[in-house]
Formats: sequence, C-alpha cells, structure tokens
Amino acid sequence: MPRYKDELLEEIRSRNDIVDVIGNVVKLKRSGANYFGLCPFHSEKTGSFSVNREKQMFYCFGCGTGGNVISFVMDYENYSFNEAVKYLAERAGINLPDYEETPEEKKMASFKSSVMDCLKSAAIYYYKKLYSNEGRTGLEYLKKRGLSDDMIRSFGLGYSGKGFDHTVNYLKEKGFSEKVIDAAGLCTISEKHGMTDRFFNRVMFPIMDINNKVIGFGGRVMGEGQPKYLNSPETIVFDKSHNMYGLNVARRSRKPYRIVCEGYMDVISMHQAGFTEAVASLGTAFTAGHANLLRRYTKDVILTYDSDDAGKKAAVRAIPICRSANLTSKVMNLEPYKDPDEFIKALGADEFQKRISEAENSFFFELRYAEGSFDMSDPEGRTAFSAEAAKKLAAIDDELARDNYISAVASKYTIREDALRRAVALAFERGGDTKSYEFTEKASAPVKDKDTVNDKAERHLLTWMTNEKAVFEAVKEYLKPEDFPEGTIREMAKKIYEGYENGSFNPAGILTDFAYEDNAKEAASIINTELDAIDTTEDREKALTDLVIRVKKNALYRNKNQDDTSDPLKKAKEEKKALASLKSMKIKI
Ligand code: UTP
Ligand code: MN
Repeated sequence: MPRYKDELLEEIRSRNDIVDVIGNVVKLKRSGANYFGLCPFHSEKTGSFSVNREKQMFYCFGCGTGGNVISFVMDYENYSFNEAVKYLAERAGINLPDYEETPEEKKMASFKSSVMDCLKSAAIYYYKKLYSNEGRTGLEYLKKRGLSDDMIRSFGLGYSGKGFDHTVNYLKEKGFSEKVIDAAGLCTISEKHGMTDRFFNRVMFPIMDINNKVIGFGGRVMGEGQPKYLNSPETIVFDKSHNMYGLNVARRSRKPYRIVCEGYMDVISMHQAGFTEAVASLGTAFTAGHANLLRRYTKDVILTYDSDDAGKKAAVRAIPICRSANLTSKVMNLEPYKDPDEFIKALGADEFQKRISEAENSFFFELRYAEGSFDMSDPEGRTAFSAEAAKKLAAIDDELARDNYISAVASKYTIREDALRRAVALAFERGGDTKSYEFTEKASAPVKDKDTVNDKAERHLLTWMTNEKAVFEAVKEYLKPEDFPEGTIREMAKKIYEGYENGSFNPAGILTDFAYEDNAKEAASIINTELDAIDTTEDREKALTDLVIRVKKNALYRNKNQDDTSDPLKKAKEEKKALASLKSMKIKI
C-alpha cells in the first residue's frame, strides 16, 4: 500500500485544524485548554469527549477512542488511512501527488487495475444478463427466494449466461487480455477446450471490497447441483481472509455491533429486513484477518451461524479468534430454523431482532457446547465437567470478571460455589487454560503483550511527559524507552524521547504512524490518560518520583522473568541494589 511522505502528512494535518474538523460534526464547547462535546462514538449524556487544539488530538474519557485528525476521520467516516488522508487533503486544497512508485510497482499497479476493471465489466455483464431473456430463470430464482429488485441492484446480483465461453469472449472484445481475464479468476483453462468461462448458468453474487470495488464472485446453482456455490479463486485482488461479504454496506451501519453469518443469501436477507450490519466470511472459516477487519468498525460481534452441528463448531472456533482480537462475541440461536435467511422468512424482522437481543454470552455458549461431551447425569461426568469449567474460568484475566463468572457458572450448573472457587484457584496455579480471556471493557486496541494489563503507571508517566517537557527532562535521567513494556507503549516512549531530543516533538504527528498501523486508539489512550491535577511543586515531585519508581520496578520485574541465562545469585544481588537505589531517589522538576 502506498504510504505518503511524512512531510506531506504533516502538512495535511497542520492545514486541517482538529477543532475545526471535529467542530463541523460535533458541537464543541471550550473549557480551559480543551474543547468538550458529546462523543460521536458512544452514546452519552454528559460530554467526556475532549479535543485539544495545542496537541491537535482528541480523546474520549468515556469510551477511550482517541487520536489525531486523521484517525478521527477514519473512525467517524469509517475510512481507511489512505482514504482519510485523501479526504483531508481535499478539504485543505492540497494536491496529493501520486505516491512515487518504482517501475515494478507501477507495472503491478496498472496490471491490478486492469484486473479490477475486468471484474467490474464482468459484474455489469452478469447484471445485464439477469434482466435479459437469457437470464429469466436466474431472475425468477432470485425472486422466488424473496429478493426485491432493490436488493438485487444494491448487491449487484447477476446471471452468468448459458454459454461456455460467452463471458470470456465478451471480455476479450472489451479489450481485456487473456492474462488479465485469467488473473481475475474468471476462466478455466484446459488443453481440450482452451479458455472457457469459470461461471455459467449460475446466479452471481459479486464480492466487493469495502470501497465497493468488485474483487470476486460467488455463483449459485439454481436448485440442486454441485458445488452449490462456486467461488472465485484467490487472486492478486481477492484475499478471502481479509474481506467480508457485505462489509461495504455494513461498515456504514451505526449499530454498535456487527452480525457475522455464514452465507451470501443470509447477508442479503438480513439487509433486506433492515439488518444492514450483517456480514459473512467468504466461503472460508472466520479468521484473525476477519476479526481485525471488523475491529475497525465495532468491538462487539454477534455470531449467527447455522443451527446444525457444523454451524455450532464454526461458532466455537470463531469465539477465541474474536477474543484475541479484543472483540466481545455473542452467539445467536436461530432454532428451529437453519439460518438467518430461513428464520427471517418464517418469523420476520421483529422476531429476528428479539433473537439478537437474546444472543448468548460466548463464554456460556462455549461451556454449553463443552457440556455435550460429558455425561451430566453421572457424578463422574459432572465432576469432569466442573473441572473443565474451572479451567476456563481460571483463564479469565480480570479478577472481578472471573469472580462474577464463577458465581454465574455455579448457580447455572448448580455446582457449590465455594467448591468451584477452590477448583478455579487450583486450575489457576496450574496455569489455567492456554488462552487468556479478556472480559473487561478496555478501550484499547488488541493486547499484544501481557504487560499492557498493568501499565497504568507507564501511561500516566507518558501522558505527563507529553504534557510537560520539564517532566521529560527530569525523567530521562532515570528511564530509557527500554524500561517501558514492549508493544505500543514502548513504541510511544521511543517516539516521545526521539521527538524531544531532536526538537521536533509533536504528539499528533506521533499518532499518525499508529493510525496507519491500526493502533490509533491504543496509542491515543497512552498519551491521554487522565491526570489528577496536583497543585504544589512538592506534591508534583513526590508523585513523579513514585511513578518513576513504579515504572522502574515493573521493568526490573519483567527482566527478572524474561532472561534466565545469567547467574541467579548475581542477578538477585543486582536487583536488590537497584531497588535500594530507587528508594532514595528524589526527582526535581
Ligand atoms: P450454505 O450451504 O449454508 O448455504 O453455505 P446458504 O448460505 O444457506 O445458501 P442458500 O440459502 O442455500 O442459497 C454457506 C456459505 O458457504 C459457502 C458460501 O459462501 C455460502 O454462502 N459455500 C457453501 C461455498 O462456498 N460453496 C458451497 O458449495 C457451499
Ligand atoms: Mn440458506
């Protein structure tokens, strides 16, 4: 992906004052150095959304969304980084130069764009066919399945024609080379028949990327036949695990969650019934790529997989993937119907909405699924199940959440709570489940390393350093960026140190790099942690000293756990010395 030059990004940022840009869509009121308003990213009655002109940053103390002007536009408009940059450049009347590509890149980009053009031509061809005489069976099929003309148009559905090479010939006539048609995945090549259409006599579902560009197709047989759906192969423009069907529409939904289902028809049925927040994975399992993609738009996922065993298994597999991407998930029950399409046809939108609100917490869903493999009428079986439940409970990181879940599981499965609690403690000592569970509502991007769970002191300190250069000058004698936990926090620390040291410190500028890497929220929260106002110099120095000591201790502790190669006795001595010197430390601002 092209990346614009830093100077250009800086110019775009500086010519789009954040207070103006946000002020256009959020009513802001000045209060001291900040402007406050109602957060556009979560519903609230009192304004905890702040915009700072000097830092050129925004931050919501309510939901933790934050960043610079580019990440605001990304979040507010659901834009990608490059789209947001384009939008802001236009707003400020800046001409975006073409990203300087190498000749290789240029050739590749132009080939890719031919492939995209070819896919678009094919989609138009299929769409027109659907409304022609030849496509009557296709149109009838879609109508029989209850789709309106509106839906057919907005999803660009089509019919692939009865011939074996009509599409290919049409595309050749339009000037696309065989190489392009092949790269688009629209043909099959054999010695006997040469180049023939991949899709014929099927109703066609174009698959679009989030920018409404066709990147592939799914084609369904009308009636029985194998395979039921034939899909485009992966190509240079079609990556199945990083795109989702329907996301081009669902990205704009203002619902606080997204519904994830299995099928093309399910997505269209849901959209037709008003659930435009629905998406599907593309004839493949749900992957981490999908989870990360969704996280750009929501933090809550509702899984609505088929009611059969395969669907339940798919849900069980998707849950931990969501969890590791810091998405909460719930599972919808569609019974007695097979899938969302059939459910909506039978019971309608209101009932479907009801099932959404009744969706089951994914932890309980997993437990219920696990229950199936134990004989719950047998004491042995129940004991084994309790042990399994304890293991899962022990893996919950947050103490408060773990406690609540223990009580809930005990009462749901009539297990004695104190016995379950002891079993959890035991499982905890043994290391719990292999995966850790995060239930706390954290406003941050994915947790990359465990340290971020306890990084309050580090965040406070970095915020303070960002706000006051004097604090940075005092702290740098004691702490290096390496003293901060690995991951976004250390990256931030590095940038803050570098920025101050070469005189170019610019908080909003730092955030651009993180916005590009999809970690904008995390980064913004690190330098926007709420600071209690401390008045006297003496108190400030004491508070700063305490913070630095805490961060240093954390660093010592991490090193102790990490590197096991050195002599343990020598290490212990060094550590004691380091801790002692911390005690006598006193920082002056
Ligand atoms: P299903 O078999 O559940 O189909 O496959 P469906 O969505 O209910 O479709 P209809 O209602 O019968 O038309 C779910 C999804 O799995 C992929 C497709 O993406 C489909 O939407 N699939 C299924 C394939 O890719 N190939 C197949 O042969 C079958
Ligand atoms: Mn179906």
